[in-house]
Amino acid sequence: MCTWVSPIPSLQIENVIAGYGDIRVLWGISLIVNQGQIVSLIGSNGAGKTTTLKTIAGLLRPKSGRILFGDQVLSEMPIEKIVESGVVYVPEGRGIFADMSVEENLQMGSYPKHARLHHSKSLRNVYSLFPKLETRRKQLGGTLSGGEAQMLAIGRGLMSMPKILMLDEPSGGLSPIVADSIFAAIEKLCEAGMTILIVEQDAGRALKLSDSAYVVENGRITLEGKGSELFNNEYVKKAYLGM
Ligand SMILES: Nc1ncnc2c1ncn2[C@@H]1O[C@H](COP(=O)(O)OP(=O)(O)OP(=O)(O)O)[C@@H](O)[C@H]1O
Ligand SMILES: [Mg+2]
Repeated sequence: MCTWVSPIPSLQIENVIAGYGDIRVLWGISLIVNQGQIVSLIGSNGAGKTTTLKTIAGLLRPKSGRILFGDQVLSEMPIEKIVESGVVYVPEGRGIFADMSVEENLQMGSYPKHARLHHSKSLRNVYSLFPKLETRRKQLGGTLSGGEAQMLAIGRGLMSMPKILMLDEPSGGLSPIVADSIFAAIEKLCEAGMTILIVEQDAGRALKLSDSAYVVENGRITLEGKGSELFNNEYVKKAYLGM
């Protein structure tokens, strides 16, 4: 778990209402991710976790409410400016390019101007975090195992030089051992000072790792607190930890 590095709000979501076309999914979501923290969103299928991350990333526009990152108003910025500001989303299902090699996929991540300048250093950092990717650097994205594809998806996100990394179900579909290795990498990133907002099916694991956490139910935040507090909360235990 990361320490409480800084009390300065890094990412602040204020009363966001959002959805798809006329369908409302988020009904006034508010949350804060402080710098250097790892924060998790937990909740059942269809609760609105992915929609929350997509709205922060600019893939969906809030119908009302604001999303602030430091002094920048993300909810008024075009998607490419959001990425340039350092807010990077690694989607559920990974979204890597099947016909491109591992290294080409990584290069795609360094398209923001500031990231291009540091491309070689970022590549070294990604290979040091995920040595397996370096051994597979010429292999096509579509032929990777699930765990390697997840490493590549995170690696590509890191190539954009994020200030905050949003991970959607990083352990989805992976065996427990492979999921362990992904979580070990997430902890290393956290120790290196990365700010992380994570959505994870394995709520117990997410809560143990997180400085703070939010429970999302039917598009609303119904509970929030330190990861350890929610891990020991009777309702959370029953509803999300299978205890
Ligand atoms: N493109 C879309 N168009 C219309 N409705 C959508 C779309 N994507 C998601 N939804 C709906 O929005 C609601 C929230 O979906 P979301 O993907 O945010 O849930 P989630 O909490 O991430 O769930 P899961 O744990 O299954 O990934 C669901 O009812 C879903 O059917
Ligand atoms: Mg989801």
